[in-house]
Amino acid sequence: MANPEQTEMELPPRPELFDFHGVAMVHYFTDNWENVQNFQAKPDDILIATYPKAGTTWVSHMLDLLYFEKSCPERGASLPIFERVPFLEFCVPPMPTGIEVADKMTTSPRLLKTHLPVQFVPKSFWEQKCRIIYVARNAKDNAVSFFHFDRMNMVEPEPGDWPSFLQRFQEGQMVFGSWYDHVKGWWDKKQAHPKLLYLLYEDLAEDMSRELDRVTSFLGLHLTEEERRRVKEGVDFDAMKKNSMTNYSTIKVMDFKISPFMRKGKVGDWKNHFTVFQNEQFDQEYKKKMAHTTLRFRTQI
Ligand code: A3P
Repeated sequence: MANPEQTEMELPPRPELFDFHGVAMVHYFTDNWENVQNFQAKPDDILIATYPKAGTTWVSHMLDLLYFEKSCPERGASLPIFERVPFLEFCVPPMPTGIEVADKMTTSPRLLKTHLPVQFVPKSFWEQKCRIIYVARNAKDNAVSFFHFDRMNMVEPEPGDWPSFLQRFQEGQMVFGSWYDHVKGWWDKKQAHPKLLYLLYEDLAEDMSRELDRVTSFLGLHLTEEERRRVKEGVDFDAMKKNSMTNYSTIKVMDFKISPFMRKGKVGDWKNHFTVFQNEQFDQEYKKKMAHTTLRFRTQI
């Protein structure tokens, strides 16, 4: 399998957002659309779904450790996260597409990642009744993290300055569309789909032991105390920041001189970015957009 670490590639020009069936997207995540939609999930596949910057890598690494740390302890330190947990809709030549990486996987279960809004998920995941873990993060921290990500990630549109970025975040003019539609769409789906576990970034940050219990119970896994300890150590922010297999330092499309991928890993960093006025405006808009959902983020308002 081609390793992006060794792949010499020109940094591509920044892509433009366009409307894709009602959702803002860039071509890197729609160019392989037919293959994504026709992807054949296996019954034991586990899909990790998130809005970008909600803690995807955190939970991906956690699941990979849960399944493979015992049988293959060197895996987490030798295979980048995007090979252990392929990003289904990813299509950035000359790197292999997410589907190509997934199709070549020999380990089981396959852990797969997507940022797709729920209505775009390939239907085989529902037909095969796959387990799905969705991770959501409070809107303000999610927006801040996305802003810094777009500054350094060349396959994302130019973020512009913070005020204009925040405005576009509220309007849903972000890659993968509106945060509101995404988190609410997946929340609604959860009500009818028992094999969907809905996690919150803030809960993971608050009590990893409790959240590990929820995840292992959902997956039907039984861990020894020692195994739990190793997983908890492995998913610690500082450990993941140092680990080149989880910090994305081997991928060429991100400019770490601008911002690291593992940036702060904190709840509440929005307070360092929002002005009082931005916060008031955001809260007003948030109340309207979240009025008809039971989904709640403890740290939001
Ligand atoms: P920040 O930019 O706020 O630091 P994703 O993997 O979905 O792209 O999300 C990336 C965000 O999750 C970044 O947030 C990153 O630092 C944070 N993150 C990744 N691993 C983490 C961990 N082990 N603990 C806490 N936050 C983590």
